[in-house]
Amino acid sequence: MRLDRGYVPGVSTTGTAPAPTIPLQNGARIPRLGLGTWPMDDREAEQAVAQAIGLGYRLIDTAFNYGNETGVGRGIAASGVPREELFVTTKLNKEDHGVDEAQRAFERSATKLDVDYIDLLLIHWPNPAQDRYVDAYRGLVRLLEDGRVSAIGLSNFKPAHVDRVIEATGVVPDVDQIELDPTRPRPQERAYLRGKDVVCQSWSPLGGRHAGLREHPVVAEIAQKRGRTPGQIVLRWHLELGCVPIPKSADAERQRQNLEVFDFSLSQDDLARLATLDRGGEGITDSDAFGH
Ligand SMILES: NC(=O)c1ccc[n+]([C@@H]2O[C@H](COP(=O)([O-])OP(=O)(O)OC[C@H]3O[C@@H](n4cnc5c(N)ncnc54)[C@H](OP(=O)(O)O)[C@@H]3O)[C@@H](O)[C@H]2O)c1
Repeated sequence: MRLDRGYVPGVSTTGTAPAPTIPLQNGARIPRLGLGTWPMDDREAEQAVAQAIGLGYRLIDTAFNYGNETGVGRGIAASGVPREELFVTTKLNKEDHGVDEAQRAFERSATKLDVDYIDLLLIHWPNPAQDRYVDAYRGLVRLLEDGRVSAIGLSNFKPAHVDRVIEATGVVPDVDQIELDPTRPRPQERAYLRGKDVVCQSWSPLGGRHAGLREHPVVAEIAQKRGRTPGQIVLRWHLELGCVPIPKSADAERQRQNLEVFDFSLSQDDLARLATLDRGGEGITDSDAFGH
């Protein structure tokens, strides 16, 4: 498929260099790190998004469910950075699982965001109990074919869910956004996604609102050794795995730190130390049981 618009990597004139990009299955490119916006409200999102883009962020992650797409759109407009240099992700809810419903969800989110195309549209949760995610995905494929979105994907889909959408449509998703951090490293899921060339995107990459991971002694020790912050060590772990983390912060200094992770790497020894944090599957939200 030929893309005649969509994300074009640019340069930052104000802050840290934008993250490098990687190619996606259906022809677009995605920045290797972005800004999460949950649980910001419209007002906070507007300020945090404009600030982050000024610092060099180019990927912004939102969702209809977050109730802040209007604020995200205002932040994008206030940033002054051309639309084509930004990569905007949003997600649709279980009420939108259907071919026509997905089209309507696109229109609704695009209107709130005040954009005429969306870079990446995701199905937020599979909700297998209602068994309509395959139709929702058919709706995304149509939006991709119509050029309304540059990339399509899934979130919280297990390998069996991903297999089903590929079998039904023959179209491989660009991304699966899953809950991932060193305590929940999910090696089987990541290997599955890698095998299909689906980019793994990490939500709650810093372990979420609880500071436990960021204060873990192993993380602190590696941070001290490398002269980095604990958050930077954790974000670098995602990059070493080939995943795209979307850390959330509204704070300018933490946003800056979170983006400055492309000028160092972790050693095999660091990675082996971080592997000891694995809680063996404990604490992963079960998307067969939960979703909206
Ligand atoms: N697909 C899904 O189902 C799903 C589910 C949940 C989240 N998400 C997405 O993923 C994004 C990230 O996940 P998340 O917000 O749950 O968790 P997260 O990014 O792992 O952690 C956010 C928390 O870490 C703090 N923080 C950020 N940078 C820091 C730093 N450098 N040092 C110390 N603390 C730092 C933030 O506080 P401050 O803001 O005060 O800095 C906030 O409390 C969300 O915003 C959302 O866009 C997707």
